[in-house]
Amino acid sequence: MTPGVRPLIAGNWKMHGLRADGLALARAVAKGGGGAELLVCPPFTLLREVATALEGCAAVAVGAQDCHAAAKGAHTGDVSAPMLRDAGARFVILGHSERRADHGEGDAAVLAKTEAAMAVGLVPIVCVGESEAERLAGEAEAVVTRQLDGSLPEGFAASGGVVAYEPVWAIGTGRTPTEADITAMHAAIRARLVARFGEAGAKLRILYGGSVKPANAAPILALENVDGALVGGASLVPADFLAIAAAAKAT
Ligand code: PGA
Repeated sequence: MTPGVRPLIAGNWKMHGLRADGLALARAVAKGGGGAELLVCPPFTLLREVATALEGCAAVAVGAQDCHAAAKGAHTGDVSAPMLRDAGARFVILGHSERRADHGEGDAAVLAKTEAAMAVGLVPIVCVGESEAERLAGEAEAVVTRQLDGSLPEGFAASGGVVAYEPVWAIGTGRTPTEADITAMHAAIRARLVARFGEAGAKLRILYGGSVKPANAAPILALENVDGALVGGASLVPADFLAIAAAAKAT
């Protein structure tokens, strides 16, 4: 945890949830609280309804999982940053490894989307992370540094942007890096943010993501430069998500 920085516990619901489950999940999360800022990122179809259900609940913000780089236009099936804002989102996850893999999003695309998000006042959560082959080849830090350099636009620090370090091989697998590896990577990310953005980079939140569960949350969240978590599977179980949030509070 970075001193003076409020932790963020973000739930990435991915492509899960019909209206009834989504609303029940959002309402259950709203009952939690504590020191951490909580965020739920439902699929587009639930965004407006979840935002409405959480209106007046200062403890839980709403975010989306992607946006298009253009504000509007002939882009069938896409959703723009102004639309997300209009639907009640305050945050947007960008460059998640599933988007990078499933939709061929490279750093330039992520950068353009991040600029679009910032232009309407959405807080971008930009995801970076190496594959298992890259880690085994000793390239993890170089890969993540390259992704940061290519994906973060000027003005990212002023927007209060968030970086999420998510090793691809840890997502949904139940495997996590060692505490030493997480600490080393978050230190490298911090150094890069400070080199790029100066003092402001020292206070940006760096989340860890990849198989965060109630059982491993406390030790991970206690590590230096780990300012919260991006949670997939466990964010669909209210008790688990709130237990992770409580672990953030306890550190
Ligand atoms: P997981 O997903 O917690 O299910 O590993 C994390 C993510 O993809 O953001």
